[in-house]
Amino acid sequence: MSQIVLQARDLTRHYEVSQGFMQPKAVVKALNGVSFELKAGKTLAVVGESGCGKSTLARQLTLIEPPTSGSLVLDGIDTANASKSQLKAMRSKVQMVFQNPYASLNPRQKIGDQLGEPLLINTTLSAAEREEKVKAMMTRVGLRPEYYYRYPHMFSGGQRQRIAIARAMMLQPQIVIADEPTSALDVSIQAQVLNLFMDLQEEFNTGYVFISHNLAVVEHVADELMVMYLGRAVEVGTKEVIYQKPLHPYTQALLSATPSIYPEDRSIKIKIQGELPSPLNPPSGCAFHKRCPHASERCSNDVPLLRTLAGREVACHHAETING
Ligand SMILES: Nc1ncnc2c1ncn2[C@@H]1O[C@H](COP(=O)(O)OP(=O)(O)OP(=O)(O)O)[C@@H](O)[C@H]1O
Ligand code: SF4
Ligand SMILES: [Mg+2]
Repeated sequence: MSQIVLQARDLTRHYEVSQGFMQPKAVVKALNGVSFELKAGKTLAVVGESGCGKSTLARQLTLIEPPTSGSLVLDGIDTANASKSQLKAMRSKVQMVFQNPYASLNPRQKIGDQLGEPLLINTTLSAAEREEKVKAMMTRVGLRPEYYYRYPHMFSGGQRQRIAIARAMMLQPQIVIADEPTSALDVSIQAQVLNLFMDLQEEFNTGYVFISHNLAVVEHVADELMVMYLGRAVEVGTKEVIYQKPLHPYTQALLSATPSIYPEDRSIKIKIQGELPSPLNPPSGCAFHKRCPHASERCSNDVPLLRTLAGREVACHHAETING
């Protein structure tokens, strides 16, 4: 059994937003009680439409922002009870790779220096030792060590994402949170960068939370899958189980639009009706009910909770009858 490196328990993040002068503040429920476990060396993929709370989740997991409620247990320590020095140590164990590699690099700093920075801050290595480690990591991610003295603008998009991945990996973190790390890249480059992620995972036994709206990308990298809708998980399980037979109507609709290696019949295309509702004013009951072809009266009144069914967890009142 792999060791559990990260546990999220009922993670919730609400934002207060202004509605204008003299108006009461409104609350955006961006993340509404998400729980999961991440194992060492495994990938949990998080999927869902724009605005469902994926990046909000990423900010909680990387300790950039505290949750409104719920907790995060990293390497056995609850972040809510951690001391300052424990939090500092935890932060170096969780690294992040963003969608836009250019925005995450400093345009005025040589990439060798940027890659050496985590070592400078967190280790007592000498300058020569840091340079050696940086060059070794550059080679590992497919960049020539001579590029050490170059600036970010001298690289292509794919190379810049390799630099961002190298920087995330410098301290050999237990966990990397990757938020749409390939969606800004040309399709021809995406597969190379995904392969790099997977090679590094095997080498360093890193746990990944891999966020993507693209189920074809996810199929390539995921061990476990969490499908999110409006701040909640609606289906959670292994990739094989969910891709072979999704049980939640939302997952079914997402997967019906995705070509897959799994044998499930994808000839029936399910089109999701309407827009994703606003987390400022979420629908009552099941948040998906206004778009769901199977919705009943119960669906507009009762919030469906995740429950175990056919080897995964699913949050739908009618999962048995729909899939019977
Ligand atoms: N700082 C903030 N203040 C107010 N609302 C926010 C804030 N951050 C996010 N939100 C809102 O929370 C919801 C979830 O946003 P989030 O960025 O997490 O979604 P996402 O799934 O990452 O979307 P995308 O696929 O477009 O990146 C959105 O409605 C967003 O407008
Ligand atoms: S609970 Fe109801 S509305 Fe929600 S997904 Fe299931 S059938 Fe559809
Ligand atoms: Mg996002």
